[in-house]
Amino acid sequence: MLNPVVAIDGPAASGKSTVARGLAARLNFTYVDTGAMYRAFAWLALERGVDPADRVAVSGLVERVPLALTISGGSVQTRLDGRDPAPFIREERVNAAVSKIAAVPELRERLVIEQRKLRNLAPLVMEGRDIGTVVFTDTVFKFFLDADPVIRARRRQRQGQSDVVAARDQADAARAVAPLTKAADAVLVDATDDDADTIIGKILQICRARGLSAAKVDAL
Ligand code: CDP
Repeated sequence: MLNPVVAIDGPAASGKSTVARGLAARLNFTYVDTGAMYRAFAWLALERGVDPADRVAVSGLVERVPLALTISGGSVQTRLDGRDPAPFIREERVNAAVSKIAAVPELRERLVIEQRKLRNLAPLVMEGRDIGTVVFTDTVFKFFLDADPVIRARRRQRQGQSDVVAARDQADAARAVAPLTKAADAVLVDATDDDADTIIGKILQICRARGLSAAKVDAL
């Protein structure tokens, strides 16, 4: 039987990561941050002097560079060319580049293939922009997390990050392939006023009503 997937999409700084991570912990599912994968490629492009908006150059990079996704400690780690990009993917220059590279169809195709494979390994809570619309269209556990843009921009500032939240949203929603949009069958969750625990509780309730149960912890 296919492993269940909870899909969480939404705009930048909507609180998706905190909510998806918390949900995964409650369900004992594996947490997958697909944004981290696009960020990893943005970082690598900058490192190698590749213009993230240059489709041909980015496609070449996507073809050449070995990508490994592994599960450990309840979440997925990305390695590119044997390196761990995690310490660098929240840098300001990556924030500014990521939506450009995420518009390159060849990169999206490669990542979507890898993201789908993860379902063979574990039940997932996967967050991103196109999980409900492209990656796992068949899941019945589909949510779109939104919040007031002012609150979202403030949230990033509080995290001590300089981020181009509005510009990323605009670019993500306007791109030709897999634009940021709510899937018709996704449940809209407004995260403007509620804290993460409240939102996690709401989503869990809906998932359970639709037949989802927590994964059993493997006996040691
Ligand atoms: O900053 P935040 O955590 O909200 O964003 P993120 O989830 O780390 O995603 C960073 C960027 O990656 C987005 O602005 C999109 O351009 C791109 N992305 C995407 O295109 N598709 C996904 N499934 C996930 C992220």
